[in-house]
Amino acid sequence: MKKIAPSILSADFGRLAEEIAAVEAAGADWIHIDVMDGHFVPNITIGPGVVASLRKTTKLPFDVHLMIENPEQYIEAFASAGSDVITVHVETSRHLHRTLTRIRELGAKAGVSLNPATPLGQIEPVLNDLDLLLIMTVNPGFGGQKFISGVLPKIKNAKEIVSYLAPHVLIEVDGGVTLDNIRSVADAGADIFVAGAAVFGSENYARTIEAMKAALQQ
Ligand code: DX5
Ligand code: ZN
Repeated sequence: MKKIAPSILSADFGRLAEEIAAVEAAGADWIHIDVMDGHFVPNITIGPGVVASLRKTTKLPFDVHLMIENPEQYIEAFASAGSDVITVHVETSRHLHRTLTRIRELGAKAGVSLNPATPLGQIEPVLNDLDLLLIMTVNPGFGGQKFISGVLPKIKNAKEIVSYLAPHVLIEVDGGVTLDNIRSVADAGADIFVAGAAVFGSENYARTIEAMKAALQQ
C-alpha cells in the first residue's frame, strides 16, 4: 500500500501539533520529520525534544529523517522520543552496518538515505540490515525545491535491486514531489512519498492528499 508522508518542514512551526492533526485528518499515512544540524546541510530544524512532545499529539508513525553529522550520537535520543523509522544518510555514517543494527536494537525501523549524486552501490552490502531506502530527489536542506528528474532511473534501479535481493525494503522518495510528478515517481517504484510544500503550501490539505492518492491509483 503506497503511503503519503507530509514533511512538517513546510508546516507552521509555531503550530506543529495543529498542523499534524490537520494532515492526519486529511489522510496522511506517516509524518515525515526533517532533522537538520547546520553541518551536513545548510539549515537547522528540530531535535529529539520536539519529537517527544509531538509524539503525544498523534498516533501516526513518525518517519524521522536525520540530515546530521555523526548520527550515531543521536539515534538513541530520537528512538526514545518515539521515532518509528530513523533514517541516516549514507554520506554521514562511517559504520553504516553498526548504525543500522543499533537503530533496530532500539526498536525502530532502520532507514538509509542517498543524496541525488550518491550511487546506489553504497548500500548494497547493507540491504538486509535496513527497512527503508530513502532516495533524495533534491539536495537536502530546504523544502520547496525543484524535483531532480535525473534521479528517476536511480529509483527504478533501486526498485529492481530491492525486489530481487531484499523485498522487505520500502522505497521512499523525498524532495520536490508534487501532484504533477507523483505518478512518475510511483511508476519508478516508490512506496512512500514525502511531500512538504505540496501539502502544507496548499489551501486544502485533504483535497491535496486525496488528489495524490487518486493519482497513485490511476
Ligand atoms: C529536504 C527534506 C525534505 C523536504 C521535502 O531536505 O528532507 O523532506 O521537507 O519538502 P518538499 O516536498 O517541499 O520538497
Ligand atoms: Zn526529508
